[in-house]
Amino acid sequence: MERQDTDKEKEKGRPTAELDSQKAELAGQETFEWVSVLRQRIEEANRAYYGLDRPKITDAEYDALMQELMALEREYPELVRPDSPTQRVGGYIAKAFNKVVHAEPLLSLDNAFHAGDLREFDRRVRAISPHAEYIVELKIDGLTVALTYADGILSCGATRGDGTVGEEITANVKTIGAIPLRLPQSRARLDIRGEGYMPKASFLQLNQEREEEGESTFANPRNAAAGSLRQLNSKVTAKRKLGFFAYQVLGVDGQGLTTQEEVLAFLASLGFVVNPEFRKFADVESLIAYCEGMAEKRHGFPYEIDGLVIKVNSLAEQRKLGFTAKSPRWAIAYKFPAEQVETVVEDIVVRVGRTGVLTPTASLTPVLVAGSTVSRATLHNLDYIREKDIHIGDHVLLQKAGDVIPEVVKVLPEKRTGSERSFGMPAVCPECASPVLQEEGEVAHRCTSISCPARQREAIIHFVSRAAMNIEGLGPALIQQLLDAELIQDAADLYFLEFDKLITLERMGKKSAENLLEAITESKARGLGPLIFALGIRHVGEKAGKVLAKAFASMQRLAEATQEELQQIPDVGPIVGRSIVQFFALESTRRFLDKLRQAGVNMEAEAWEQPGLLAGKTIVVTGTLERWERREIETLIERYGGKAAGSVSKKTDFVVAGEKAGSKLAKAKELGIPVMTEEEFGVYLEKAGAPTK
Ligand code: IVH
Repeated sequence: MERQDTDKEKEKGRPTAELDSQKAELAGQETFEWVSVLRQRIEEANRAYYGLDRPKITDAEYDALMQELMALEREYPELVRPDSPTQRVGGYIAKAFNKVVHAEPLLSLDNAFHAGDLREFDRRVRAISPHAEYIVELKIDGLTVALTYADGILSCGATRGDGTVGEEITANVKTIGAIPLRLPQSRARLDIRGEGYMPKASFLQLNQEREEEGESTFANPRNAAAGSLRQLNSKVTAKRKLGFFAYQVLGVDGQGLTTQEEVLAFLASLGFVVNPEFRKFADVESLIAYCEGMAEKRHGFPYEIDGLVIKVNSLAEQRKLGFTAKSPRWAIAYKFPAEQVETVVEDIVVRVGRTGVLTPTASLTPVLVAGSTVSRATLHNLDYIREKDIHIGDHVLLQKAGDVIPEVVKVLPEKRTGSERSFGMPAVCPECASPVLQEEGEVAHRCTSISCPARQREAIIHFVSRAAMNIEGLGPALIQQLLDAELIQDAADLYFLEFDKLITLERMGKKSAENLLEAITESKARGLGPLIFALGIRHVGEKAGKVLAKAFASMQRLAEATQEELQQIPDVGPIVGRSIVQFFALESTRRFLDKLRQAGVNMEAEAWEQPGLLAGKTIVVTGTLERWERREIETLIERYGGKAAGSVSKKTDFVVAGEKAGSKLAKAKELGIPVMTEEEFGVYLEKAGAPTK
């Protein structure tokens, strides 16, 4: 889980100093109580984080609290409870989703597109409720999630389904940090509704990772959120960084609430995250001005919104207004003017990726959308094209998903002339003519030849990319040039490039040739982790590369590992394990690795990648640092296998203290824990041959 740094708060000695003293106070009391303090702190941090507020503690502090809680729960299993934050990590694997009948049906909202529609809505409301006030909330672009709490404990989470019957996704919902597992009050039953969503940043990162790992990508954050919540394995959901904003309580009568404003405050008091952007209006004209102003600001939020929801504030008036067959009369959705533009799918071309996945891509008549000209949009896979019924020649609506990725929203069938052509996946690879296969249970089609030139080109692009061997100055165009000139066939050939040949390439000057050769040579010592990632093994991303480097410490040992050995490593499941074994069983892999070895590429873990340097060490950083940012030093500690903790205890191995270190330094001295200056810590790492940048 990524959290933002909060150096300033840390420097003030809060909140861990506060925690330390609380802990001391509790020293004589039951572990039981300490466990509940830990849980409370973790849940508070979760809410701050998912509520998109300023996080109150750092990642490292959060991890330290979580580790401590997990250790205590391991030691005293009788203390484990279904509402403990440790239960959020997922792990429950369902065979299928059960059906849930909603306590009350989930209705949809009528839409307003113009000021006139809002005035009309206001007129209808005032006919029945002359003095109505309105609450305007953001319309979050995610999916409705219905929650049920029994005796204060989250007992059921469900999707909307058809509005009457949804799917039970309790295990998945529990992984969302913004959803309380337990409420501060225990009524027999409480039903809460709100919007589950994926923040834009998580969506972009998820798609990037899926692309890296050779998986097909999601079209937009809403699909990604829905896909994540409909996972049979809740561990997958736990990794997806979803959020939740609560906006509705059923059976409000029993709660003594009289307005939507109070409902939101009540939800917040129960520990839910309520979107803070709501506003109250007494007259429709100022409401309209606000709605129109928000259309301009719609992209400024870290999550996607597709409009605003306008609700009559008084719950008594809401009841008076009642419902039509499908929607409430007391609410309406204001949809922002479309940022969708029309264009034409001139062609659908198939691109072949590094793992052989064929991705259909629309070539579009160039159009300006949300600030940039777009002429291509990925169509992800054949299922997507069929679902949207996209034909070559179709007029389509285009928008930006997550404000970045061009997305074909829908076809405009009324504009068809009859000359449109349907698209089919080619039976053979467009680049090498090898057969294309769709594996059972997969949406992706793949080229079956590992020597496919497209796959090889993409594999080289991946090999030299930043998180892999990081060879600067070697972009896709130059790679294509090298391939065309037959100076290389695969990435290993890069290490045998000669200056005299390189200089013969078009547009290649003396200086750039020298720089390139130097960058290539430098990359030989990039480290085992990046090298494993660079190989482009399916399902092995950047993080898995590091984990494998640490566990095996040499390419040879990794190549010889059995599936069982691999699966003993945390984060390596059967699919990843099998993929690794299959990769190293290939004759072509053996030849490729031999070439790298001959070239002098380092295949052993560098000293800093070896387990041992900081492995098993718990380190606390305190005070004001000069040489590193707080985040940098914590990353360094983690890179070398250590744990950066937030508070000093007997378990701390040493403390790195900067200027103005306060209570933590004092505590370390009191406990006799070694203290280093920032400089000494740097020397310590460098002596072990570990880079400190
Ligand atoms: S209120 C009785 N408030 O928009 C209707 N809905 O058609 C209660 N949505 O899919 C809905 N943000 O999940 C409401 N602040 C908000 C919302 C919101 C997003 C979604 C909702 C539903 C659709 C309404």
